[in-house]
Amino acid sequence: MKQLEIAVIPGDGIGKEVVPAALDVLRTIAEVHGGLQFTFVEFPWSCDYYMEHGKMMPDDGLQILQGFAAIFLGAVGNPKLVPDHISLWGLLLKIRREFEQVINIRPAKFFRGLQSPLANPNDFDFIVVRENSEGEYSEIGGRIHRGDDEIAIQNAVFTRKGTERAMRYAFELAKKRKRHVTSATKSNGIFHTMPFWDEVFAQVKQDYPEVQTDSYHIDALAAFFVTKPHLFDVVVASNLFGDILTDLGGAIMGSIGIAPAANINLNGKYPSMFEPVHGSAPDIYGKGIANPIGQIWTAKLMLDHFGEDELGSVLLKTIEDVTADGIKTPDIGGKATTREVTDEICRRLRQLA
Ligand code: NAD
Ligand code: IPM
Ligand code: MN
Repeated sequence: MKQLEIAVIPGDGIGKEVVPAALDVLRTIAEVHGGLQFTFVEFPWSCDYYMEHGKMMPDDGLQILQGFAAIFLGAVGNPKLVPDHISLWGLLLKIRREFEQVINIRPAKFFRGLQSPLANPNDFDFIVVRENSEGEYSEIGGRIHRGDDEIAIQNAVFTRKGTERAMRYAFELAKKRKRHVTSATKSNGIFHTMPFWDEVFAQVKQDYPEVQTDSYHIDALAAFFVTKPHLFDVVVASNLFGDILTDLGGAIMGSIGIAPAANINLNGKYPSMFEPVHGSAPDIYGKGIANPIGQIWTAKLMLDHFGEDELGSVLLKTIEDVTADGIKTPDIGGKATTREVTDEICRRLRQLA
C-alpha cells in the first residue's frame, strides 16, 4: 500500500471550491485503486488568515509543510483584503522559492469536448517549462523620490545555473515527447538577460543533437500560440514569459479554468507543489460554478509525480469523456456546477472499479 501524506492549502476564492472537488476525485481514485491511500491535512493559510494573524502562514509554516509528500494548493489572492504582492510573496511565491521548486510544468492541449476559440486548433499538444525561481520575479529594486519624479526599479535575475537547469529539464522532457524545444526569448529588446538566455540555450542544445530547436521572441511566440499552436512540443520560458504564455495556453484550450500546473523540486530536499494556472477568480467565487478541471488535472500531474502515470491517464481520459458528454461549467459553454462536474467524474471513476 502506497501511503501519501498531502498538505492541502485551498487558499482564497474559488480555491476553496475547486480544491475540495479535486480531493473528492483523489479519494475516489484511492478507493478504486486499492493500492493507494491519501491522508490530506488541510491548512487555512489565506488572505482571511492574514486578516486574523497579520501573516499569510505561521512562522513555522514551511517547517510544517516540509514533512509532507506534496503540497496541493488552490489559489492565493483576495486583493480587496490584502495587496496581491503581500499575499503572494507571503505564501505561494514563498513556498516556490524556499522549497526550491525551480521548474513549473504547464501542459496545454486540444481538449476533447471543448470549443477552442481558435479557428484552426489542429490537435495541438505542448508543455511550457517555466523557470520558476528567478528571472523577472525578484525582490531586488526599489522606489526612489516621490511625486512626479518617482522612479520604480525592478531588477531581473538570471543565473547560469537556474537558466541552464530549466533548459536541460525542457530538453530531457522533449526526449520523451516529440523531440522539439522552443525557446522564448526577447533578446532584441532586453539588453542583458535575454542575450544571456540565448547564449545558454545555444550551449545546452549542443548536448541534445537529437532534439530539434527553435527560438522566437516572446511577442511573436504569443501570436504563434494563437495561429499555429500545433508547431510546439516543449517551450522553455523565463518566469514571467512562462506565466503569460500559460494563461494563453489555457485560453486556447477553451478556458484558463482547465489549465494545470506542477511546481517541481528537483533535488528531493523539499516537497513539490501542485496548483492550477488560474487564480482565485473573485468575480465568480461563491456561485458554485468554478470549473474544477484545472484543479483535477493538476491532481493528475501529482499522480504522475508519484509514478502513478497510468492512473493519471485514466483520470485525464475520464475528465475529457465527461467534458465531451457536455457536462461542463459555464466558462466552457455548459450549465453544470462545480459539484455536478466533480460528481460525474467520480461516478465514472467508480464504474471502472
Ligand atoms: P484569475 O485566474 O483568478 O481569473 C481570471 C478570469 O478567469 C476571471 O474572469 C475568472 O472568473 C476566470 N477563471 C479563473 N479560473 C476559473 C475557473 N476555474 N473556472 C471558471 N473561470 C475561471 O486571475 P486574476 O483575476 O488576475 O486574479 C485573481 C486573484 O488571484 C488575484 O489576487 C491574483 O493575484 C490571484 N492569482 C493567484 C494565482 C495562484 O495562486 N496560483 C494565480 C493567478 C492569480
Ligand atoms: C501563476 C500566478 C502567479 C505567478 C502570481 C499569482 C504571483 O499568476 O501561478 O501563474 O505569476 O506565478
Ligand atoms: Mn499566472
